[in-house]
Amino acid sequence: MKTIKSLFILLIGLAVAACSGECKKEEVMKTKEPYQKKYTNADFYKDGKLDPEVALKAYLDMFDYYGVPYSDFVKNNLFITDFELGDFENVGMAGLFWVNDSAHQYFGHEIYLLPGQMILEHRHMATNYPPKYESWQVRHGWAYNYSIGEPTPDAPVLPASQKDFITVSHFQKQMVDEVIHLAEAESPHFLFAGPQGVIITEYANYHDGNGLRFTNPKAVFTNVLE
Ligand SMILES: [Fe+2]
Repeated sequence: MKTIKSLFILLIGLAVAACSGECKKEEVMKTKEPYQKKYTNADFYKDGKLDPEVALKAYLDMFDYYGVPYSDFVKNNLFITDFELGDFENVGMAGLFWVNDSAHQYFGHEIYLLPGQMILEHRHMATNYPPKYESWQVRHGWAYNYSIGEPTPDAPVLPASQKDFITVSHFQKQMVDEVIHLAEAESPHFLFAGPQGVIITEYANYHDGNGLRFTNPKAVFTNVLE
Protein backbone atom coordinates (compact mmCIF):
# COMPACT_ATOMS: atom_id res chain seq x y z
CA MET A 1 0.00 0.00 0.00
CA LYS A 2 2.87 2.27 0.96
CA THR A 3 4.53 1.56 -2.42
CA ILE A 4 1.35 2.48 -4.33
CA LYS A 5 1.03 5.72 -2.35
CA SER A 6 4.68 6.63 -3.04
CA LEU A 7 4.21 5.85 -6.72
CA PHE A 8 1.11 8.04 -6.82
CA ILE A 9 2.98 10.95 -5.16
CA LEU A 10 5.88 10.49 -7.58
CA LEU A 11 3.52 10.63 -10.60
CA ILE A 12 1.85 13.81 -9.29
CA GLY A 13 5.32 15.33 -8.79
CA LEU A 14 6.35 14.45 -12.36
CA ALA A 15 3.14 15.90 -13.78
CA VAL A 16 3.65 19.16 -11.88
CA ALA A 17 7.29 19.36 -13.02
CA ALA A 18 6.31 18.72 -16.65
CA CYS A 19 3.54 21.31 -16.51
CA SER A 20 5.78 23.97 -15.01
CA GLY A 21 8.17 23.61 -18.01
CA GLU A 22 5.38 23.43 -20.64
CA CYS A 23 3.24 26.05 -18.97
CA LYS A 24 6.16 28.47 -18.82
CA LYS A 25 6.80 27.88 -22.55
CA GLU A 26 3.15 28.60 -23.28
CA GLU A 27 3.29 31.75 -21.17
CA VAL A 28 6.29 33.00 -23.18
CA MET A 29 4.40 32.32 -26.45
CA LYS A 30 1.37 34.19 -25.17
CA THR A 31 3.33 37.21 -24.00
CA LYS A 32 5.33 37.65 -27.27
CA GLU A 33 4.32 41.04 -28.63
CA PRO A 34 3.10 41.08 -32.25
CA TYR A 35 5.72 42.19 -34.74
CA GLN A 36 5.35 45.85 -35.58
CA LYS A 37 6.69 48.66 -37.70
CA LYS A 38 10.19 49.77 -36.73
CA TYR A 39 11.46 51.89 -39.62
CA THR A 40 10.24 54.93 -41.54
CA ASN A 41 11.37 56.65 -44.74
CA ALA A 42 13.67 58.82 -42.59
CA ASP A 43 15.61 55.63 -41.74
CA PHE A 44 15.49 54.13 -45.24
CA TYR A 45 16.65 57.04 -47.38
CA LYS A 46 20.03 58.76 -47.48
CA ASP A 47 20.34 61.68 -49.94
CA GLY A 48 17.11 60.53 -51.58
CA LYS A 49 18.39 56.99 -52.21
CA LEU A 50 17.18 53.81 -50.59
CA ASP A 51 19.93 52.52 -48.31
CA PRO A 52 20.28 48.78 -49.08
CA GLU A 53 21.78 48.01 -45.67
CA VAL A 54 18.93 49.55 -43.70
CA ALA A 55 16.34 47.99 -46.00
CA LEU A 56 17.93 44.55 -45.58
CA LYS A 57 18.18 45.02 -41.81
CA ALA A 58 14.43 45.75 -41.67
CA TYR A 59 13.61 42.42 -43.36
CA LEU A 60 16.16 40.50 -41.28
CA ASP A 61 14.56 41.86 -38.11
CA MET A 62 11.26 40.45 -39.36
CA PHE A 63 12.86 37.09 -40.34
CA ASP A 64 14.31 36.91 -36.85
CA TYR A 65 10.95 37.56 -35.20
CA TYR A 66 9.16 34.91 -37.29
CA GLY A 67 12.01 32.37 -37.11
CA VAL A 68 12.64 32.47 -40.87
CA PRO A 69 16.17 31.30 -41.71
CA TYR A 70 18.47 33.64 -43.60
CA SER A 71 19.97 30.74 -45.52
CA ASP A 72 22.65 30.96 -48.22
CA PHE A 73 19.95 30.54 -50.86
CA VAL A 74 17.98 33.44 -49.45
CA LYS A 75 21.11 35.56 -49.09
CA ASN A 76 22.15 34.88 -52.70
CA ASN A 77 18.73 35.36 -54.29
CA LEU A 78 17.00 38.03 -52.25
CA PHE A 79 15.95 41.21 -54.02
CA ILE A 80 14.70 44.44 -52.49
CA THR A 81 12.94 47.20 -54.40
CA ASP A 82 11.11 50.45 -53.74
CA PHE A 83 10.05 50.53 -57.43
CA GLU A 84 12.03 53.79 -57.54
CA LEU A 85 9.09 55.60 -55.97
CA GLY A 86 10.90 56.87 -52.88
CA ASP A 87 8.29 55.64 -50.41
CA PHE A 88 9.74 52.35 -49.19
CA GLU A 89 8.09 52.64 -45.78
CA ASN A 90 4.74 52.19 -47.56
CA VAL A 91 5.52 50.85 -51.03
CA GLY A 92 8.13 48.22 -51.78
CA MET A 93 8.98 44.60 -51.23
CA ALA A 94 11.65 42.00 -50.80
CA GLY A 95 11.39 38.65 -52.48
CA LEU A 96 13.11 35.77 -54.17
CA PHE A 97 12.34 33.19 -56.81
CA TRP A 98 12.72 29.63 -55.56
CA VAL A 99 12.29 28.48 -59.14
CA ASN A 100 11.18 30.03 -62.45
CA ASP A 101 11.15 27.38 -65.16
CA SER A 102 10.05 28.43 -68.65
CA ALA A 103 10.52 24.97 -70.16
CA HIS A 104 8.17 23.24 -67.74
CA GLN A 105 6.06 26.27 -66.86
CA TYR A 106 6.30 26.49 -63.11
CA PHE A 107 7.37 29.02 -60.55
CA GLY A 108 7.82 29.45 -56.80
CA HIS A 109 8.26 32.81 -55.13
CA GLU A 110 8.56 34.21 -51.62
CA ILE A 111 7.23 37.71 -50.91
CA TYR A 112 8.30 39.72 -47.87
CA LEU A 113 6.40 42.86 -46.88
CA LEU A 114 7.23 45.00 -43.86
CA PRO A 115 4.37 46.17 -41.62
CA GLY A 116 2.06 48.37 -43.70
CA GLN A 117 4.08 47.88 -46.89
CA MET A 118 2.34 47.43 -50.25
CA ILE A 119 3.29 45.75 -53.51
CA LEU A 120 2.15 48.04 -56.28
CA GLU A 121 -0.97 47.18 -58.20
CA HIS A 122 0.03 45.22 -61.30
CA ARG A 123 -1.05 42.70 -63.94
CA HIS A 124 0.64 39.86 -65.79
CA MET A 125 -0.07 39.95 -69.51
CA ALA A 126 0.41 37.15 -72.03
CA THR A 127 3.72 37.32 -73.92
CA ASN A 128 5.26 34.42 -75.80
CA TYR A 129 4.12 32.62 -72.67
CA PRO A 130 0.64 32.32 -71.17
CA PRO A 131 -0.40 35.04 -68.69
CA LYS A 132 0.81 34.29 -65.20
CA TYR A 133 -1.72 32.82 -62.82
CA GLU A 134 -0.83 33.12 -59.16
CA SER A 135 -1.92 31.63 -55.85
CA TRP A 136 -0.73 33.04 -52.54
CA GLN A 137 -0.28 31.35 -49.19
CA VAL A 138 0.43 33.43 -46.10
CA ARG A 139 3.21 31.95 -43.96
CA HIS A 140 3.58 34.58 -41.23
CA GLY A 141 1.69 37.75 -40.33
CA TRP A 142 -1.29 38.64 -42.50
CA ALA A 143 -2.21 40.76 -45.52
CA TYR A 144 -4.99 42.47 -47.41
CA ASN A 145 -5.19 40.64 -50.73
CA TYR A 146 -6.68 42.97 -53.36
CA SER A 147 -8.23 41.92 -56.66
CA ILE A 148 -11.07 42.67 -59.07
CA GLY A 149 -14.59 42.30 -57.68
CA GLU A 150 -17.20 44.16 -55.69
CA PRO A 151 -15.75 46.83 -53.37
CA THR A 152 -15.21 45.47 -49.86
CA PRO A 153 -16.44 47.65 -46.99
CA ASP A 154 -14.20 48.84 -44.17
CA ALA A 155 -11.14 49.12 -46.38
CA PRO A 156 -7.80 49.96 -44.76
CA VAL A 157 -6.07 53.25 -45.47
CA LEU A 158 -3.78 52.51 -48.40
CA PRO A 159 -0.49 54.34 -49.04
CA ALA A 160 -1.28 57.91 -50.09
CA SER A 161 1.46 57.85 -52.74
CA GLN A 162 -0.56 55.22 -54.68
CA LYS A 163 -4.05 56.67 -54.45
CA ASP A 164 -4.17 57.56 -58.16
CA PHE A 165 -2.79 54.19 -59.21
CA ILE A 166 -5.21 51.74 -57.62
CA THR A 167 -8.15 50.47 -59.67
CA VAL A 168 -9.38 47.54 -57.54
CA SER A 169 -11.28 47.82 -54.27
CA HIS A 170 -12.19 44.22 -53.52
CA PHE A 171 -10.02 42.61 -50.85
CA GLN A 172 -9.79 39.66 -48.51
CA LYS A 173 -7.98 39.72 -45.21
CA GLN A 174 -5.61 36.79 -45.67
CA MET A 175 -4.35 34.97 -42.60
CA VAL A 176 -1.68 32.26 -42.10
CA ASP A 177 -2.14 29.27 -44.43
CA GLU A 178 -5.12 30.74 -46.22
CA VAL A 179 -4.66 30.34 -49.97
CA ILE A 180 -6.10 32.84 -52.43
CA HIS A 181 -6.02 32.51 -56.23
CA LEU A 182 -5.80 35.26 -58.85
CA ALA A 183 -9.37 36.16 -59.82
CA GLU A 184 -8.87 36.23 -63.59
CA ALA A 185 -6.05 36.16 -66.15
CA GLU A 186 -4.40 39.55 -66.69
CA SER A 187 -6.47 41.13 -63.91
CA PRO A 188 -4.99 43.79 -61.61
CA HIS A 189 -4.05 42.78 -58.07
CA PHE A 190 -1.80 43.70 -55.17
CA LEU A 191 -0.94 42.82 -51.58
CA PHE A 192 -0.85 45.16 -48.64
CA ALA A 193 0.72 43.94 -45.40
CA GLY A 194 -1.11 44.23 -42.11
CA PRO A 195 0.60 45.93 -39.15
CA GLN A 196 2.63 42.80 -38.34
CA GLY A 197 4.21 42.51 -41.80
CA VAL A 198 3.68 39.41 -43.92
CA ILE A 199 5.61 36.57 -45.50
CA ILE A 200 3.86 34.92 -48.42
CA THR A 201 4.63 31.99 -50.70
CA GLU A 202 3.41 32.42 -54.25
CA TYR A 203 2.78 29.54 -56.69
CA ALA A 204 2.40 30.27 -60.38
CA ASN A 205 3.23 29.34 -63.93
CA TYR A 206 6.34 30.79 -65.53
CA HIS A 207 6.98 34.45 -64.68
CA ASP A 208 7.98 36.39 -67.78
CA GLY A 209 9.14 39.84 -66.71
CA ASN A 210 8.06 41.19 -70.11
CA GLY A 211 4.42 40.59 -69.20
CA LEU A 212 4.55 42.62 -65.97
CA ARG A 213 2.56 45.90 -66.03
CA PHE A 214 2.35 48.31 -63.11
CA THR A 215 -0.69 50.58 -62.89
CA ASN A 216 1.64 53.37 -61.72
CA PRO A 217 3.57 54.35 -64.87
CA LYS A 218 6.45 55.74 -62.79
CA ALA A 219 7.21 52.38 -61.19
CA VAL A 220 10.46 50.71 -62.17
CA PHE A 221 11.69 47.45 -60.78
CA THR A 222 15.27 47.89 -59.53
CA ASN A 223 16.95 45.56 -57.06
CA VAL A 224 18.92 47.72 -54.60
CA LEU A 225 20.96 44.70 -53.46
CA GLU A 226 22.66 44.50 -56.87
FE1 LIG B 1 1.34 39.37 -59.43
